[in-house]
Amino acid sequence: MDIQLTHHARFGGCAGKIGPNDLSNILCGIDIPEDSNVIVGLKGFEDAGVYRISDDLALVQTVDFFTPVVNDPYWFGRIAAANALSDIYAMGARPVTALNIVCFSPKKFTTAVLREILRGGADKLRESGTSLLGGHSVDDEEIKYGLSVTGLVHPERIVRNEGAQPGDQLILTKPLGTGVLITAMKGDLVSKETETHLISVMATLNRRASEAMLSVTTHAATDVTGFGLAGHLKEMIKESLGVDVYADKLPYFPEAEELSAKGFSPSGLYKNRDFYAPFVDAEAGGFPFELIFDPQSSGGLLIALPKDDMDGFAREASGLSLDYWVIGSFVEEPKGRIHIK
Ligand code: CO
Ligand code: CO
Repeated sequence: MDIQLTHHARFGGCAGKIGPNDLSNILCGIDIPEDSNVIVGLKGFEDAGVYRISDDLALVQTVDFFTPVVNDPYWFGRIAAANALSDIYAMGARPVTALNIVCFSPKKFTTAVLREILRGGADKLRESGTSLLGGHSVDDEEIKYGLSVTGLVHPERIVRNEGAQPGDQLILTKPLGTGVLITAMKGDLVSKETETHLISVMATLNRRASEAMLSVTTHAATDVTGFGLAGHLKEMIKESLGVDVYADKLPYFPEAEELSAKGFSPSGLYKNRDFYAPFVDAEAGGFPFELIFDPQSSGGLLIALPKDDMDGFAREASGLSLDYWVIGSFVEEPKGRIHIK
C-alpha cells in the first residue's frame, strides 16, 4: 500500500509514551482501588496486572497502543499486536483474549488502511493463539492502534520484574536500537535491508522467549519497551541489588550506530536519559552505551537466570530457534546502580 503512515505521526511507537518522571508525578497521591485478590497492581510497576480467580488460576491484564512505527499498515498491525502481547509473555502467562483499540480518521485516510492494520493485528493474534473478542474506536487525526490483552497464569508461576538474585545472568532476546531506526525511517534514511530486518524483529512474538524462560528457574523478567534498557533494568533492581552490563555484549541493529551518530535519536531517548542516567555508572560513553536509553518498540525480554540454569536455557532456546544474548549479571552491591562496563 502506497502510504507513508509514519509521516503522519509525531512520535514513533513507544517513543510516544509519557516520560517516567511525569508518570510517577501524575500517579502520586491517587488512591488506587484494589481488593484482596489483586496479586500485582499498579504499585509494583510490573508489566501487567494480575488478579486471582481461584487458588490455581489468575488473570493477567495489559493494554498497549501506539502511533505507527512503520509505513506499511499491515505490518504496523502485526507489530502493535506483538507489542501488546509482550507484557503477557514477560509475566510468564499465556494470552487468551484481546480487544482492539483504534484511533483513526476515515476522513483523512482511506478505510483500506484501517482494514490492513486490523488484518495484521488479527494475524498476529492467531499466531499467538489469542481470540479477538471486540474493540473500540475513536475518530482521531493521528492513527493509533493496539490491544488490551488478557492472559492466564498459575498464581505461583508469575514471573515478576523483581526477584533477580546476585549472581544471576542477564539475558536479552532482541537487539536494541528500534527507537533510533524508527526515527530515521521517518526521513526514509534506513536501507531497505535494515528496514525489513527491523520490521521482522519487532513483529516477532516474545512467546518463544517466554517458553524458554519458563523451562528453567527464571528469577525475574520484563520486556524492554518505552523506558529503554536502562529504565526496565532499573525496575528489575530497584534499590535491592545492582547490575553489571557489558557494553561490548549489547546486541543492536548494525545501522543504528551510523544513524545515531547522525543524530537520529527519538525524543524519548533524551527523556529516558534525563530520568535514568543518575542510576547509571558508565566506564565509557558513546555508542552503543547510549542505546541503553533508546525507547524500544516491541523489544525483547530481559531475563534474570541463575547460572546453573544457563545450559538448560541454551538447550531450550536452540530447540526453539530463539536468539538471545547474555549482556550482564546481577550483583549484590552497589544497590540500585546500573554499571556499564
Ligand atoms: Co512491559
Ligand atoms: Co507495555
